[in-house]
Amino acid sequence: MSEGSISRRAVLKQTFCFSASLLAGRSLAAAETPPAPGASHFLMIGDWGWNGDLQGQSAVARAMARHVGDAGWKPEALFLLGDNFYGPFKGGTDCPRWKTQFSDMYPKSVFPGPCHAILGNHDYDDEPVAKLAAELGYAKAHPGTRWNMPAKWYRLELTQGGKPLASVLMLDSNYHNSVASLTPKEKSEQLSWLKAELEKPRTAPWLVVMGHHPLYSRGKHGDNPEITADWDELFRKHKVHFYFAGHDHDLQHLEFEKHPTSFVISGGGGAHVRQPEEDGRGPFAEGVHGFTHLEITPQRFVVRHLDANRKVLHAFAKLPDCSWSPLS
Ligand SMILES: [Fe+2]
Repeated sequence: MSEGSISRRAVLKQTFCFSASLLAGRSLAAAETPPAPGASHFLMIGDWGWNGDLQGQSAVARAMARHVGDAGWKPEALFLLGDNFYGPFKGGTDCPRWKTQFSDMYPKSVFPGPCHAILGNHDYDDEPVAKLAAELGYAKAHPGTRWNMPAKWYRLELTQGGKPLASVLMLDSNYHNSVASLTPKEKSEQLSWLKAELEKPRTAPWLVVMGHHPLYSRGKHGDNPEITADWDELFRKHKVHFYFAGHDHDLQHLEFEKHPTSFVISGGGGAHVRQPEEDGRGPFAEGVHGFTHLEITPQRFVVRHLDANRKVLHAFAKLPDCSWSPLS
């Protein structure tokens, strides 16, 4: 797909592979059934590090903790999808916000696993590289921290019982920001790296990509033709199961006919929320504070969007062959 061929109109013309009638009449009961035995669990938030009033972030963090407390399992890791810290960040790796908005907000007693983070546009916007350096350098400055951001883009291999479970490619989607972004050289290097990683023989049943900016979104920021031009064809070619993003302050799930990838947005972690547009794409979009729960076995990958009251708003299951079905 050439860059010129991608436009909002073209994307809107895509036919959706979900059925509204299929969704109608289903209860949330399936989404609220106990997790599969032996499943691995992960929680995910984006756009969480608001600067100022922390009511939204605190409400979501409390809901995540209650969700874990009642569940009987511990999340193996948190995924932090960017816009980790809005606004000024004085002190760098010793900024007090590390404690108030990260380590105390998501306490180790509840979330003992690593916290895998990627960069959002607001992580680039202080002076303009001081915050960037702090996020990339925090783990080195604070050995033992759960914070994990070894580079702007990196690979994770999730395992279950010692066997490969999911290959996760964590990307920097900052192609254009108002203050700073990836350089042309970095964009090129990352794209080469992404192609090389996707070409490697797959050993895990699941292939997942995460970046801050969505390719497709019903939110305020809309679709992103630039990253779509670079990445969408790769997702199709290599049958990427999921692309998880944030940036728009809502929760979404978009599907497209004959596209192997489920596009999921989890941007309700704390910043003020906004209602998505109704543009016919779906099956789900809602502007609400909340988080996303991933329940993974080699046979099934379940995604649940929950609000700050822990209500399951939307859930679906995906199979390794890239088919999916709603659970709500
Ligand atoms: Fe953003």
